[in-house]
Amino acid sequence: MAEDKTAGTEVSEAQIAVHWKEEETYPPNPQFIAQANMTDPHIREKFGEENFPNCFKEYADMLDWYEYWTKTLDTSNPPYWKWFVGGKLNACYNCVDRHLPKYKNKTALHFVPEPENERIEHITFQELYVRVNEFAALLKDFCGLKRGDRVTLHMPMTVELPITMLACARIGVIHSQVFSGFSGKAAADRIVDSGSRVLITGDAYYRGGKLLDHKEKADIAVAEAAKEGQKVDKVLIWQRYPGKYSAQTPLVEGRDFIVNDVIKNYYHQEVEPEKMNSEDVLFLMYTSGTTGKPKGAQHSTGGYMAYVTGTSKWIQDIHPEDVYWCMADIGWITGHSYIVYGPLALAASSVIFEGVPTHPDAGRPWRVAEELDVNIFHTSPTAIRALRRIGPEEPHKYKYHFKHMTTVGEPIEPEVWRWYYNEVGKKEAVIVDTWWQTETGGFLCSTVPAIDNMKPGSAGPGVPGIYPEILDDNGEPLPRGSNKAGNIVIKNPWPGLMQTIWRDDERFVKQYFERYCANKNSTDWHDWPYFAGDGAVEAPDGYFRILGRIDDVINVAGHRLGTKELESASLMVQEVGEAAVVPVPDPIKGVLPHVFISLKPGFEPSKEIEQKVTDMLTREIGPIAKPGRVWIVPDMPKTRSGKIMRRVLAAVAAGKDTGDVTTLANPEVVEKIKALA
Ligand code: WT7
Repeated sequence: MAEDKTAGTEVSEAQIAVHWKEEETYPPNPQFIAQANMTDPHIREKFGEENFPNCFKEYADMLDWYEYWTKTLDTSNPPYWKWFVGGKLNACYNCVDRHLPKYKNKTALHFVPEPENERIEHITFQELYVRVNEFAALLKDFCGLKRGDRVTLHMPMTVELPITMLACARIGVIHSQVFSGFSGKAAADRIVDSGSRVLITGDAYYRGGKLLDHKEKADIAVAEAAKEGQKVDKVLIWQRYPGKYSAQTPLVEGRDFIVNDVIKNYYHQEVEPEKMNSEDVLFLMYTSGTTGKPKGAQHSTGGYMAYVTGTSKWIQDIHPEDVYWCMADIGWITGHSYIVYGPLALAASSVIFEGVPTHPDAGRPWRVAEELDVNIFHTSPTAIRALRRIGPEEPHKYKYHFKHMTTVGEPIEPEVWRWYYNEVGKKEAVIVDTWWQTETGGFLCSTVPAIDNMKPGSAGPGVPGIYPEILDDNGEPLPRGSNKAGNIVIKNPWPGLMQTIWRDDERFVKQYFERYCANKNSTDWHDWPYFAGDGAVEAPDGYFRILGRIDDVINVAGHRLGTKELESASLMVQEVGEAAVVPVPDPIKGVLPHVFISLKPGFEPSKEIEQKVTDMLTREIGPIAKPGRVWIVPDMPKTRSGKIMRRVLAAVAAGKDTGDVTTLANPEVVEKIKALA
């Protein structure tokens, strides 16, 4: 649109790319190389197009199968790719049972409670086996759940969360875990969409020094779901302190059950793992989209498990003797793939951390690392920035040694990368910057840590078997290594890619394939590049640098929030007439949403209204959606066609030049908005 162009308020992606200076590279430490799982310098060729798709057999062979597959990749119904067709396996068996002969007395999970005066719990593979089996028996018998049913989990970070997921996987029940920080209403939306009649939650958990009542959200979730026609008949509640109920909210007779009571009837029971088809659904993971309601990324059993196991082994360099700590929440895909399924399939000891990394102080993560001898550490730029700001000197006070560190979730500033490398990694650890998405199941771009040099701020080349490319708006590939910005796509299918959006095939095709599909009747995968929705540049060395989302999704602390979701929630405040949400750079969170509202006639701007909007977003979506600022403006800047000019708002909020606004329908309003800054 002409109006959009002349507004000229934003630095274009191409400009960003031009201003970005090439960073120096860092070679991996020889001691790391000496012990690494993947050291073959030709691995990318072995996973190259000539060997596609059979190269992925190597990942599938890291799993145990009841029945081996007959076809590696079926492309007959694009873009619904089917991997390892004809194979049968069980994800829980692969994460637990198969490790018993060798590792039953080894720790599978370390549970680190937030309060430091509580002991760390160490759950062996044997104990994990027992606890998963008894809970699977309960789900089957007490809840009547069976293969293919969906269950919504709204659980905090305790050891019962992976136990619950694995128990579901054992009996073929599809789990859908909702991040515990999300509201009851957000859980309700996901209960409805997935069609869950059982909700599994926890009574309470610690966050920032406070024991929060979590059960109250279950009451809201069940009530809201009922309004939309989805009845939840059982709510299972795990106790933070077994045997003691820690929530204020009363139990609802006949609906709410304390797991720690009911489970006594299932002690000593064992449940045969279901022999699942490779293509059966393992779980749903809801993620925000640009348009309204969250979408359920549907992940398979065989392809997903093979992909997360393979990438955990080669990119995370996990060995059974490693102590691996990914500080993400299991409520996000990172936790599913790289706290639970990948690491446990490799028999690692995986750390589950309940709390906030900076509580009670910025030394906490390093004390945990020292106490548990953590040697692989995985976190996000947001957490790194916060730890750097509050406790830049802390890492050196503790005697831990990392061999490997990961950053994930958003682009990391080279400055911050260097602090992570020098201070947290003590110049010993390799770093992988892993670019991927909820939809992709596992890593897309990253260095292979023993083979490739690191480059601050760049994710790296495609991981083995992933062929990324940068296309312009017309679908033409930009010259390789040109450092020009465009849209990053993955040219080929891979086993970790979601199967579809739960009950919304149309949206799946539309959002991820339609843009660049040359021929919708083609069954050749070359015609179906995966559109990731991120802008990126490729440097001459083949490293990709991700520039961020190209649609209007806001990435707060590595997690996506749809602007549409936030705007819809703002409009639920009675006084609000119009709302526009824009991303604004923030030194800690990376980006924060700022909410611009104009009021309905007859209302005057007030602090109360601003607070109402903040409260509404927190209630409807969760504290992660808390706006950096709510601006009450006299009117929205609009194009003549009536489109709100979000980029003008974003420029004002970020204190940048708004450029030429004379083509707006109401240019005079821009000065009035600037005056509020
Ligand atoms: C979006 C996906 C991947 C799991 C956590 C977030 C951004 C992710 C990186 C990275 C630059 C990154 C992208 C992507 N992103 N990792 N290493 N460098 N950007 O999952 O909520 O599905 O978000 O996060 O924009 O599309 P998600």
